[in-house]
Amino acid sequence: MVYEIVKDIGHERVVELLHWLRKSKIAVIGDVALDIYWRADMKKSELSRETPHFPLPVVEEWMSPGAAGNVAANIAALKPEKFFLLSIIGKDWRGDLFIKEAEKRGIITDFLIRSDKVVTNAYCKPLRRGISDVEYEDPRIDFENFSLIGREEEDKLIKLLEKAAEEVDILCVIDQMRFGCITPRIREKIEKLSKNGLTVIVDSRERIGCFTDVILKPNDIEMFKALGIQKEPSKLSIEELLEFAETFSMQKGNDVCVTLGDRGAVYVEKATGKKYYVPTVNLAPPLDICGAGDAFLSVFSLVLGAGAQKYEAVFMGNLGASVVVKKIGTTGVATSEEIITNYRKHWAKN
Ligand SMILES: Nc1ncnc2c1ncn2[C@@H]1O[C@H](COP(=O)(O)OP(=O)(O)OP(=O)(O)O)[C@@H](O)[C@H]1O
Ligand SMILES: [Mg+2]
Repeated sequence: MVYEIVKDIGHERVVELLHWLRKSKIAVIGDVALDIYWRADMKKSELSRETPHFPLPVVEEWMSPGAAGNVAANIAALKPEKFFLLSIIGKDWRGDLFIKEAEKRGIITDFLIRSDKVVTNAYCKPLRRGISDVEYEDPRIDFENFSLIGREEEDKLIKLLEKAAEEVDILCVIDQMRFGCITPRIREKIEKLSKNGLTVIVDSRERIGCFTDVILKPNDIEMFKALGIQKEPSKLSIEELLEFAETFSMQKGNDVCVTLGDRGAVYVEKATGKKYYVPTVNLAPPLDICGAGDAFLSVFSLVLGAGAQKYEAVFMGNLGASVVVKKIGTTGVATSEEIITNYRKHWAKN
């Protein structure tokens, strides 16, 4: 198989693309959540009188937009010309806090639908500290929407999507929840917009195989699941992975970008048949890969919106993700300054 390895695109081009992406016009549609962190200091805990338990005395609390909200935060940090976030959240305290946290990060929230029929997703993460500095995460407490999005909400979201699509060059789709806002009707609408010329990039944990005629951005495991292949992707060569990505691209009728964790990503361009492997750099531990996929998707999409080549967008996606994997204990975002600093530190020296 013939494929191109893209190790570097050069300092000048990285700077240029970071500059260009400020002209991007982009919309994100998908499932948002609120990530809530509670740090408990067990040294302050006293045995409860009523129950045989030691309570968790919370000494610190912080929160951030999660799922599509984290992609939105990453995009907002890079300050594109136009940016809309479309989703459905509940009329509950978590919905209020989501909006507050989103606005703090420069996300415009006018395209968020609020409905009393929907529960705002939230992941509450209690973190315990004792005598040593080692921190342990307790089981998460989740608020999740368990009811189907109704027709009325779908209609509202479709209207907003039509409005946003007229003003943007790129649409990013994050389909993550079991009862999320990317319903089959919304999916159909998204595919139609793509067929009509809008560049659409889709990230979906469980349903990546349900989308056709859009650019698919699964990780290796998600693609294998969609293809029904029972293999351990980390054991396969780049050539083998590209073969599967090509099959997936043929099946689904558009480009496929597969992220491969610390191996970077591969890209199959449907129209030209071109295939690329874009490795990333080895980063020294400690690493926190939480949010790596979101950072990749955000930078990749913005750069594509700015008119870059596909392989350049993949390179920039790796570069953006390399910033957030070094941010420990948080999903984190990558700013333009951090991206260029990371390039100089890890790529330009090679
Ligand atoms: N250990 C790592 N070292 C360097 N870069 C990494 C590492 N892990 C992930 N990345 C970067 O992040 C990108 C996305 O990672 P990955 O393939 O794990 O996606 P994902 O599983 O969708 O992530 P997420 O769990 O955040 O959704 C990779 O293509 C790579 O650029
Ligand atoms: Mg992912």
